[in-house]
Amino acid sequence: MERTFNDMWNKNHLNNMGDEIKYDNWLEKYMKFFNKESKILELGCGLGNNAKFLAEHGIYEVATDLSEIAVNYVKTQIPQTEVQILDLTKPFQFEDNSFDIVIADLCLHYFSSDMTIKIMNEIKRVLKNGGRLFARVNSTKDLNHGAGQGKKLEENYYFVEGYNKRFFDERDTKKFFGTIGDCLAKEGTMERYAKKKFLIEIEAICKK
Ligand SMILES: C[S@@+](CC[C@H](N)C(=O)[O-])C[C@H]1O[C@@H](n2cnc3c(N)ncnc32)[C@H](O)[C@@H]1O
Repeated sequence: MERTFNDMWNKNHLNNMGDEIKYDNWLEKYMKFFNKESKILELGCGLGNNAKFLAEHGIYEVATDLSEIAVNYVKTQIPQTEVQILDLTKPFQFEDNSFDIVIADLCLHYFSSDMTIKIMNEIKRVLKNGGRLFARVNSTKDLNHGAGQGKKLEENYYFVEGYNKRFFDERDTKKFFGTIGDCLAKEGTMERYAKKKFLIEIEAICKK
């Protein structure tokens, strides 16, 4: 099952490799929190949209993903970026309080409720007190738009076209991301995919 999931993502990344890395500047407003000494971890980095944005600002993160295809690609595109395989469903191989910033862009909405809470606790563990998580996840507004509904697995959690996908509303955003600490969330949209994507953008400040 796990192997299949990884294979599916590898295939997805292989299909998109070679496309120009695109980013949409969502991190721009948070740049005041980044500096060259910041320890930054990106989860589910994919083909490096955010790593590229940061590199263009002279900032290098630790880029991680389940997919070896993805992290190897990021390494070839941005050699200064440190890369590592990291499966979000397993304990992260980093010490407590290792990072000032964690970035998780469209990668925290694939998991059951119990697993999502475990992942939030891992993010909290590796963040320093006062450190920040910047994340984007599917909004429940996307249910009737790009993402469709599929087979229901849990409240706001569906099997859609081969993927398990969670959709966040205000209550769930607070429930899950509130685990980390104080949490600001706002609705947004993204034009990267064929259909407009409705998402929630979160800034969580780690409180230990
Ligand atoms: C929609 S893509 C987003 C990629 C990238 N963050 C971006 O915005 O361009 C979701 C990413 O999550 C990764 N992913 C899926 N399941 C994962 C897991 N269990 N652990 C780590 N990464 C995972 C996939 O390989 C993929 O790169």
